[in-house]
Amino acid sequence: MANVEALKRRLDKAAGILGEATLRPIFHLHTEEGSPLRYVNIQGGKIPKMEPQDVPFTMIERMFNDLTSGKRFTILEGGRGSGKSYGVASYLIARALIKPERVLCCREVQVSIVQSSKSLLEKIIRSDARLLDFFEIQRDVIIGRNGSEFLFRGVRDYSVDAIRSFESISICWPEESQNLTRKSWDILVPTVRVEGSQFFVTMNRKSINDAIYKEFIEQKHPEARVGKYLLWENPWASETLKRDAEILKTTNFSRWDHVYNGQIESLSDVRIFDNFIVRDFDIEDVVKRRIDTMRIGTFGTRRERAQRWEEAKARIDADFHIGVDFGFIDPTVSLLVYKATEARELFILDEIYKTDLDVSGIAREIRQFLQRNNREGWPFYCDSARPEIVAELKNRYGLNAHSVRKHRIKDGIDILKGWRIWILPHCENCIRELGLYSWKVNQNGDPLPEPAPGHDHCPDALRYSVISEITSSTGEYEILKGW
Ligand SMILES: Nc1ncnc2c1ncn2[C@@H]1O[C@H](COP(=O)(O)OP(=O)(O)OP(=O)(O)O)[C@@H](O)[C@H]1O
Ligand SMILES: [Mg+2]
Repeated sequence: MANVEALKRRLDKAAGILGEATLRPIFHLHTEEGSPLRYVNIQGGKIPKMEPQDVPFTMIERMFNDLTSGKRFTILEGGRGSGKSYGVASYLIARALIKPERVLCCREVQVSIVQSSKSLLEKIIRSDARLLDFFEIQRDVIIGRNGSEFLFRGVRDYSVDAIRSFESISICWPEESQNLTRKSWDILVPTVRVEGSQFFVTMNRKSINDAIYKEFIEQKHPEARVGKYLLWENPWASETLKRDAEILKTTNFSRWDHVYNGQIESLSDVRIFDNFIVRDFDIEDVVKRRIDTMRIGTFGTRRERAQRWEEAKARIDADFHIGVDFGFIDPTVSLLVYKATEARELFILDEIYKTDLDVSGIAREIRQFLQRNNREGWPFYCDSARPEIVAELKNRYGLNAHSVRKHRIKDGIDILKGWRIWILPHCENCIRELGLYSWKVNQNGDPLPEPAPGHDHCPDALRYSVISEITSSTGEYEILKGW
């Protein structure tokens, strides 16, 4: 808690910058359910003693620094449930207490006042009698005793003329700003023109084409401060929501990446793999179940039965596959995959994912990988574009390396898409890449039959691991042989 002293000093300093009594309220608005805002000092009298041990430090301090940076544009972006709206709402209430402010709370479309930020501001105000005493909550506006005013509008619904009446706005809070169009933003910015006026923008990234994303995140804006906030840093986030997020991360990584991790939304019809599940499983159980279904039977002599068992076991063992995708600046990736043909299931058991490896490094990593998985001497199948590395791994390092048979990427992907893929949770890179691997898109955003560059190392290694056995005497591979 040593940093709390620093926090106190900064609070005082920020209060000084704003030229008014205190900014402390925003940190104590909601430290405890039911007893918020213990330190508001509306009349500007003596400031009560703080109880800093109540303050969850890091995220709040960061948000405080962002909100008080003094920049014209402050952007709070991130994932769902990360405290962005609450943070801005609390801060703006504090600002409106300290000094008369005219605050425009807006969004692209506001069909009714119920959809506006009014309900959140109202909730915070109603949670403390002193705030409720200071602010008058009317149907469409909230008015402070000092003349502060909160207005709520949908930008799209307004003509430029109507927007002119907003000229004395000192603070603008566009909420859900990923939805703001370029046109709306271009109306809004020159409208909020009072000396020292500021924007506090809250948003969750959606598309790289969104106006706010382009202006403040893709490019650097000299008058902007951008802060990113995530659910798991929010000290007030509910366990229920955190659990939802954890589950989504294992069932649909790219949705999780967008919804909770604050990344651009990758459209589902552009995602290549939606057939994988992250889960703990015991591969020994999978293997046992498979031998059971092979019906060794009790007929024949003991020797015949033993022979059938050995054959079954050999078949089972042959279903462990290893693929290797080389990279030097990119990561070198290897996956160990178990293939249960009858059930059309693939099990991803282990991964190598390392950058900056030369051939000796690759040899060392693969040897360790084989050892820790009890697969010493096991064959593995590599990127066919680099036969010289395969030869070196084989001849110089004595590894059982092979080039994978050449095939069209799209054909390999089609095969993989026909299987259910299980991934052990520790294969984090594989989970991420399989979740993000996408088709290229044309100008209309429609998918093309070719993967987009990026997130392709694990998908490639996966393809090599299981394509290895597709063989054909003519030299042409036959997609369905053995599948
Ligand atoms: N200062 C606070 N005091 C009390 N609870 C808070 C506070 N900040 C956040 N929370 C809790 O965390 C939840 C998420 O916060 P908030 O709605 O501000 O997140 P957000 O980042 O705006 O999320 P979304 O993108 O879903 O709008 C709130 O519903 C509330 O329960
Ligand atoms: Mg919000």
